[in-house]
Amino acid sequence: MTDLTVQPAREGLDLGARVRGVTLAGLADEGLRTELVALFEERGLLIFEGVEPSSEMQVAISTVFGPLKDHPSKATPRVGDGDDLLGVIEIRHDPAKGGMVQVGDQLLSQWLPWHFDHCYNDELNRAGVLRSVEIPSEGGRTGFVDGIALYDAVSPDIRERIEGETVRYAMDVILENLEYARPDGFTEVRQSAQAQGVMDEYADRPLALHPAVWTRDTGEKVLHVSPWMAKGIAGRSAEEGDGLLHAVCDEIVAAARDLSYFHQWTPTDMVVWDNWRVLHSVSGMPPDQPRCMHRTTIAGDYGLGRFEAV
Ligand SMILES: [Fe+2]
Repeated sequence: MTDLTVQPAREGLDLGARVRGVTLAGLADEGLRTELVALFEERGLLIFEGVEPSSEMQVAISTVFGPLKDHPSKATPRVGDGDDLLGVIEIRHDPAKGGMVQVGDQLLSQWLPWHFDHCYNDELNRAGVLRSVEIPSEGGRTGFVDGIALYDAVSPDIRERIEGETVRYAMDVILENLEYARPDGFTEVRQSAQAQGVMDEYADRPLALHPAVWTRDTGEKVLHVSPWMAKGIAGRSAEEGDGLLHAVCDEIVAAARDLSYFHQWTPTDMVVWDNWRVLHSVSGMPPDQPRCMHRTTIAGDYGLGRFEAV
């Protein structure tokens, strides 16, 4: 029997829980697995603290929440090549050749806007699990914000106008192309080494469509719009759709200032988040520092996405 310690990610936030006491051996216990799934459904984000820092542990935690799914992009680097590590991808920043953006007067690497993963796909993976294997001395924090809280936080006018709309998404890892919620003075100074390979791989794919608001089985409405990779609103003219999407994305960024949780990584943490409910982002870090994250993708689908007819 495993004794779990569960605390809020931070006081006053409904999103997230810190969990201590999970071990590789303990995860064999079906009762513990059921408890963790229930906590995940309720809190949307679990921060496992003090866990063994290995790929084996990452896969063991991941499979509590569903089967692993290989990453859809073949150009994304994998960790190891054994079947046991299926789907553990590496997100590495190499100071000599990594991507870099300018936000205001700051040069940053690993900066990413608010998004949900696989928005460019018809299927939306259930969850992701992240751990940090190389941590910069400052920055590189991963932010999370709950779509349930965002739905309640945006202005009534925006909520009414965006409900029922469908957002168009395309794989687009060229940050210079960021259209929505683009920070003031934002420029991509250098693309990441993998960016063009990913763009080439996806050049002929249709755009994906996902509802801006959806309702969970438990009844809560989720505002689920990814400013990153959004390309407009389906069935709306550019003037009509773009104005609304800009307004929604700007309100998401503003609301996230109060509602988000930013995780400062340590070597023995792993974080799982609900990709159907939670948006995430990366705070950016000094470009001269290395950073390496390992991520798994957990299969599943909420059944509401599709590809645009071509
Ligand atoms: Fe992501």
